[in-house]
Amino acid sequence: MKNVVLLGFMGTGKSIIGRRLAVELHYRFVDTDHLIEERVGKRIPQIFLDEGEAHFRSLEQALIAEVSALDAHVISTGGGVALNPLNLDHLEKQGILVCLTARPEVILRRVQRRKGQRPLLASPNPLGKITSLLSEREPAYRRARIKVDTSDLSIKKSVQRILKQVSPLVGKQA
Ligand code: S3P
Repeated sequence: MKNVVLLGFMGTGKSIIGRRLAVELHYRFVDTDHLIEERVGKRIPQIFLDEGEAHFRSLEQALIAEVSALDAHVISTGGGVALNPLNLDHLEKQGILVCLTARPEVILRRVQRRKGQRPLLASPNPLGKITSLLSEREPAYRRARIKVDTSDLSIKKSVQRILKQVSPLVGKQA
């Protein structure tokens, strides 16, 4: 059974929506950021601080290659996964790519609920940082054929939207 892969910027809801989506699909769930943290034994901001972003990206790339070979999983990814085309090559082999999006102000509101968790947004002007990163990343996220804007949707509604589009592709009824 194909995997469902959630891509998208920080604060678009990949982890919480992915977890619920997996329940609905009777799939297992994996979150690449959590798995990296578990294996390294450090939170992501600490990995960035101690080893740097390049090291984090190489851990991420290795993990993506590994989880891409799973079957019948919802895979929630970190916001930067789509930047490396090799990651998407792996994930696409056995997965349906779904990109979650949200407006910059909504992203800011959501990420501010868990301050200190997103090293890339540690800036005096986080909204400006979000906007510039979003425009830089837009072409990479475009590789996902299915897009769901979660800005004005509850978690439940977001899950329903995704289910409607992926169910026929994974051979399940929505
Ligand atoms: C990142 C997003 C984060 C995490 C790391 C880098 C990014 O994941 O992987 O801080 O480059 O956008 P979330 O999208 O789950 O916040």
